[in-house]
Amino acid sequence: MTEESLSQEHRTFQPDPAFAARANGTADMYTEADADFEAFWAKQARHYVTWAKDFDQTLDWSGAPFAKWFVGGELNVAYNCLDRHVENGLGDRVAIHFEGEPGDTRTLTYADLHREVCKAANAFEALGLKKGDTVAIYLPMIPEAAIAMLACARIGAPHSVVFGGFSAEALHTRILDADSKLVITADGGFRRGAPSALKPAVDAALEHGEHPVQKVVVIQRTKQETAMVEGRDVWWHDIVDGASEEHTAQPHDSEHPLFILYTSGTTGKPKGIFHTSGGYLTQVAYTNSVVHDVHPDSDVFWCTADVGWVTGHSYIVYGPLANGATQLMYEGTPDTPHQGRWWELIQKYQVSVLYTAPTAIRTCMKWGHEIPMKFDLSSLRLLGSVGEPINPEAWLWYRKYIGGDKAPIVDTWWQTETGAIMISPLPGVTTLEPGSAQKPIPGVSAEILDDEGQPLTEAEKVGYLVLTKPWPAMLRGIWGDPERYKETYWSRFGEKYYFAGDGAKYDKDGNIWLLGRVDDVMNVSGHRLSTTEIESALVSHPHVAEAAVVGASDETTGQAVCAFVILRLGGEHQTDDNEDIITELRNHVAKEIGPIAKPRQIMIVPELPKTRSGKIMRRLLKDVAENREMGDVTTLTDSSVMSLIKSGMASGATE
Ligand code: WTA
Repeated sequence: MTEESLSQEHRTFQPDPAFAARANGTADMYTEADADFEAFWAKQARHYVTWAKDFDQTLDWSGAPFAKWFVGGELNVAYNCLDRHVENGLGDRVAIHFEGEPGDTRTLTYADLHREVCKAANAFEALGLKKGDTVAIYLPMIPEAAIAMLACARIGAPHSVVFGGFSAEALHTRILDADSKLVITADGGFRRGAPSALKPAVDAALEHGEHPVQKVVVIQRTKQETAMVEGRDVWWHDIVDGASEEHTAQPHDSEHPLFILYTSGTTGKPKGIFHTSGGYLTQVAYTNSVVHDVHPDSDVFWCTADVGWVTGHSYIVYGPLANGATQLMYEGTPDTPHQGRWWELIQKYQVSVLYTAPTAIRTCMKWGHEIPMKFDLSSLRLLGSVGEPINPEAWLWYRKYIGGDKAPIVDTWWQTETGAIMISPLPGVTTLEPGSAQKPIPGVSAEILDDEGQPLTEAEKVGYLVLTKPWPAMLRGIWGDPERYKETYWSRFGEKYYFAGDGAKYDKDGNIWLLGRVDDVMNVSGHRLSTTEIESALVSHPHVAEAAVVGASDETTGQAVCAFVILRLGGEHQTDDNEDIITELRNHVAKEIGPIAKPRQIMIVPELPKTRSGKIMRRLLKDVAENREMGDVTTLTDSSVMSLIKSGMASGATE
C-alpha cells in the first residue's frame, strides 16, 4: 500500500489476544468504575500509592468546584517514586537511560536516582528552602530536571517548571506569579548540534527590579562561559555533590500542592494550573499502567515530551517512576545528527512503549518511511499519541511503519488541567478506531453538549466536550486566582460541568472524536499558545498599532501562528518592502514569549475586520490565512476591509 492510500479503506483493529492476556487494563474496570466511581478510585489509590497515613474519605466535593481527594491521607511523592522501590529490592533496576544530544550517556538506577534526589534535597534545604516555598525550574532535558523536581516534591516545595524554550520575559512573569524563592537552571543545553545558553535568560529575568528570588542553582551541562552573580548564584556541583545521601522523606497531606504549571488561556496572562499530591500521583500511575500498559519489570518506556510540559511531568517523572519503570530520556531533537535518531535510540535501548505527539509523527512521515525502516523497531509493542488530534493517515502510518503493523495505538486526550490521561482506548480491550480517542477511561465521565448545554447523543453532531464528575488528578485551581478557575472551567455550562474548551462529536459507534479548541487557544506542534498573548506581544512593539492573531491549519504542526498587523501611522516602515519589519516583529515575539510563538506568517494590513461593536472577526482572518473563500462579512463595519486585506496578502512574508 502506498502512503497516500493508507487511509482509503476504513479499518478498525481488534486487540491481539496475546496482548490482551497480559494487559493491565481490563474490561471489567469499566463496570467496576461505573458501579461506584469513588470506590474504584479509592482502590486505585491504595494499589498504586504507598500512604504514610491512610485516607479516611475518598472525595470531598462539598466545596465544588474545589475538590479534595483522599482526605486525611498523607504521603511523600518522592518516597513513592524512589525509596519504596529501593526498599523493595529494586535499587539496581534502571530508572533512566539518559542520552544527550551529542551522544553522551548516563544510566541511573533507582538507587542512583534516590541518592541524587536525597543529596539535592539536603542541598536545597541548606540554602534555606522550606516546605511550601515555590521553586522555578528552568532546565534542558537532562536527568537533573527530574532530580530537581523530585527533590522539591520530597521537601514539599511546589515546583514551577518553565519550559527551556520560553524567553526571559516569560520566565520573569512566572517567577513573580508563583513567588519563587529559588531558581534551578543550567549553563545551557545541546540543541541541533550546538550548545545553547540558558543561564543568561535567568539573569535577564532577574534584572527586572523587584523579585522574590534569593538563590539560583546552576547545573554545568555545556561548560559554556557563565557569569555568576556573587551571593545569589551557586553551582549545583558545589552544593549537591558533597551533600549527605541521607534524607528522610516527611509525609505531606494528600492535598499538599505538588506543582504549578503555567499554560495559555484565552486571555493574555498565562494561568498557573496547580496540582496536589495524592490524587495526582494515583491517576498518573494508574494511567501509565492501564493505558500505556507499562510492565515495570520488562518494559522500556519512552515519552518524547519535554519536562517543561505537563506530559513530561506526568509521564516522564511522576507516573513511570511511581510504577518503578525503566525509561529513556533524550535531550535533543529528532533530526540531530540525522533524521533517524529516534529510531536509532529505540533500537539501542530496546524501547517497548513509545509515547509521542502527532506533529512528530507527521514530520517523520514527511521525511519518508525509508528512514525508520533502516532500524530494528521490533521491540516496540505499544504506541501512544498525545497533544492534538491524530489524523487517520498519521495513525495508520504510525502503526504500519513504526509499530510493525501490530502494535496497538492509544490516542490519549487530556490537558495540563486534567493532570493525567482522561479519554483513551485501553490497548488490551478496545477495538481501535484510527483518529479517535474513543472513550473515557474507567473512572472518568465525559459528555458532549450542544450550545444550549443539552447532551448530544446523535452521531456526527458537533458540540463541546465536558467532564461530568471530578477526577483525582484534576487541577485544584489557578494559582492565586480562585475566581478565574470557576469562571474558566465551571461556568460555561453551569457548575456541574467542567468545560474543557475542546470541540467534539460522537461517531455512529459512540466513539468520541476531538475536534480542536473552541476558544482562542491555538495548538502548534502540540503546544498551547494563546492568540491574545501573541497579540499583546506584537502590540508591545513600538511600530505596531494593532494586531490580530489566528491559528491557521498546517500540515505538519497542526496549526500555525498567523498574524495580521497594522503599523503605526507616520512610522518609517510604511513602505512597500515590509521584509525588515516583519523579521523584526517575528524576533520580537520570540523575545517576549519564546521561539515557539514566532508567527509563521505576518501580514501587514491597513485595517482589521471588526464588527460594529468593535470585536475583531478572527473567523474571517482565518479564512484568509487558510486561503478559503471568505465567510459572511455582513456584520463588518466596513466590508471593503477584507478586499484590502486580501489584495495586500502578497506582501505578507512566509518563513
Ligand atoms: C489538545 C497536553 C485531540 C486539546 C496533554 C487539549 C488533544 C489540549 C489530544 C491540552 C488528543 C491533547 N486529541 N486533542 N489526543 N491531547 N489535545 O494542556 O485541545 O498542553 O485541550 O496538555 O491539547 O493541551 P495541554
